Amino acid sequence: MNTFKTPTLAGTIKPANDKSMTHRALILAALATGETVIVNPLRAADTTQTMHALQMLGVPITIDAQHHCIKVQGIGREGIKAYVEDLATPLHFDFGNSGTTTRLMIGLLAGLNVPATITGDASLQRRPMDRIVDRLTQAGAQITMTRGHLPLTIHRGITNGLIDERLQVGSAQVKTALLLAGLGANVPVTIVDDFQTRDHTEIMLATFGASITVTGTTINLPAQIQLTGQLIAIPGDISSAAFWLVAGAVIPESTVTLANVGVNPTRTGILAVLERMHADVKLRARHQVNGEPVADITVRPTANLQATSITKAEIPQLVDELPIIALLATQAQGTTEISGAQELRFKESDRLATVGQVLTQFGANIQVNDDGFTITGPTRLHVPEAPVDDFGDHRITMLIIIAQLMTGARLEPRATTNVNVSYPNFIRDLEELLHV
Ligand code: S3P
Repeated sequence: MNTFKTPTLAGTIKPANDKSMTHRALILAALATGETVIVNPLRAADTTQTMHALQMLGVPITIDAQHHCIKVQGIGREGIKAYVEDLATPLHFDFGNSGTTTRLMIGLLAGLNVPATITGDASLQRRPMDRIVDRLTQAGAQITMTRGHLPLTIHRGITNGLIDERLQVGSAQVKTALLLAGLGANVPVTIVDDFQTRDHTEIMLATFGASITVTGTTINLPAQIQLTGQLIAIPGDISSAAFWLVAGAVIPESTVTLANVGVNPTRTGILAVLERMHADVKLRARHQVNGEPVADITVRPTANLQATSITKAEIPQLVDELPIIALLATQAQGTTEISGAQELRFKESDRLATVGQVLTQFGANIQVNDDGFTITGPTRLHVPEAPVDDFGDHRITMLIIIAQLMTGARLEPRATTNVNVSYPNFIRDLEELLHV
């Protein structure tokens, strides 16, 4: 049994709005004709990268902060191509820390046949781009990379359709890049996604009027797609909610409600894990917005959390939540095995290594394996003796803060600016929920 002195978490918050959906809404709105109003977009460093990239392609975008929306005047593929042709100098993009912007924009630019160079920060330059570039090259694009990484240069776009593409890695970014390449080049795309990665792109394409079909694991996007501007409402991001789901499931006497969170089944692996671990989680007010399921989620602590196992098939549905799930496992009775999660090595940091290091400093019994973790609990976490490095990774920063809460000690001040990547109001939400 864990005996925490303080603090508890109580109240209702709206976690950060969905990052994946915001990137996609901006890009599809740019490719559409007419105005799109994106209500409750995530306004954070990553999505700002996508917004700026589209502005550099001539797409008029304005922020209406008072009404929590972004307005995009779609100019369509021809509008973007015409704008770029008139530019005096070649396009150069620096996408900072945003892997999603980079992967999606590589697809879009190669589809539109827009020559450009692309780079990013040190973390982004570590992340593999060959998983997208190789497919685009096979479809006729000419792209040079730096040993499979950024910086890269697009010299020429794709010339053929992307037919019978079977995803080799369980990556929604790869899937979306290929769909955007097809849209940009006005060629058909068929993709087999055996991994069931997040399907926001497919759902949103249908919302924008595309005749996309999904049969089993096969996605079919014909050529000649015309998208029309829409009103798109973005729900909360379950990957941001995840920090409170775990904190609320562990910290005694807490009751946390996360309002208006996206619960698309391709994203809710963490809810299945919480259920298997006997956590007290309830979904209410279920409804659909723009084809996406949404709900309010309430979590309360259980004294009786049980270990579980998470294997390869489940990873794409909870890939960004694995750091905080690892923390949860330290509080469960028994040994939790997480396997098939090699993809964590290619995130903003090598999250197998960084999660292992961070949780070890808090006293967790965690072993890092080639493709996951073995975690035995429950362990009473303690305040680390040495400073804890977040490796510049937003989700590791938030993990550290939730782990600090679980020690029951006063929160140690630390730099938190990199939460701006996905969850700018993380500290404000913490203050809202925290009762000492
Ligand atoms: C994302 C897909 C995932 C996820 C990332 C966002 C997306 O990456 O980790 O935070 O919006 O498509 P992969 O596609 O590389 O798994």
